[in-house]
Amino acid sequence: MERKNNQQLAIVTGGASGIGLAIAQRFVQADIFTVVIGRDKEKLQHAAELLGSNCVTISADLTQLAAIPALITDIETQYGPINILVNNAGINMKKEFADVTDEDFEKVLLTNLQSVFSISREVVKVMTPREAGSIINISSMAAKYGIPKVIAYTASKSAIEGMTKAMAVELSPKGIRVNCIAPGFIATDMSAKALNTDPERKQKVMSRTPMGKLGTPADIGNTALFLAGEEAAYITGVSIAVDGGNSIGF
Ligand code: NAI
Repeated sequence: MERKNNQQLAIVTGGASGIGLAIAQRFVQADIFTVVIGRDKEKLQHAAELLGSNCVTISADLTQLAAIPALITDIETQYGPINILVNNAGINMKKEFADVTDEDFEKVLLTNLQSVFSISREVVKVMTPREAGSIINISSMAAKYGIPKVIAYTASKSAIEGMTKAMAVELSPKGIRVNCIAPGFIATDMSAKALNTDPERKQKVMSRTPMGKLGTPADIGNTALFLAGEEAAYITGVSIAVDGGNSIGF
């Protein structure tokens, strides 16, 4: 797989399944050379077959923070300048507040927040001299209103929203736009795990979603493509809810 001349290069973390895969699909269709980073080799293999020659996959566990600088250097050396970073990889954990251990909390924060910081820092280092780049973080409805039994996830996603703003004010003058997508309830393995075992929560989600249905991963892919590209050239520091109205639902 080789990047063609003048082709944009995007990294999509967690891009072998769910929302990340849909983002990668949309990028590849738009002729963006896409580097998918994930930790599940089988899913990566499937994604590589689906995404074709505009994509390469890299197996890496992003909680191994010390390995991130070399990962980014290797991508630049092998494929050239990184134009777009989508921080999509994430995990959820549904547990009663008092049952969440320190280790549970740390694991979610390490995956959803700290690895996002580390990979963004390394990508910003290579984007800064070129004065160009677009970084997209993935937040959640958990950052918009209180959802019970997801304390660590909520803490991580609320921090992502804050970090998006702090990154945008510091990096936009250097030509790097930073934005956030806050997906509503999107049909993926992650949401199936959270909703299908909890009919009460599913009912609650549907009742406050004016459009009356779950979103699709492609809905998020379309928004990511928009934010990544020239159409969004004057947009930075925002969090776009792609949620069928869930965040404003009664
Ligand atoms: P998913 O579980 O299908 O995808 C997450 C991907 O991240 C997986 O491929 C997983 O292997 C990867 N990943 C997790 N930890 C990793 C690590 N340490 N290193 C490398 N890769 C890792 O879930 P989904 O639903 O596609 O979620 C994607 C993002 O969207 C997450 O950040 C999630 O919090 C967010 N989100 C999802 C919503 C939904 O309704 N599905 C709603 C709001 C936000």
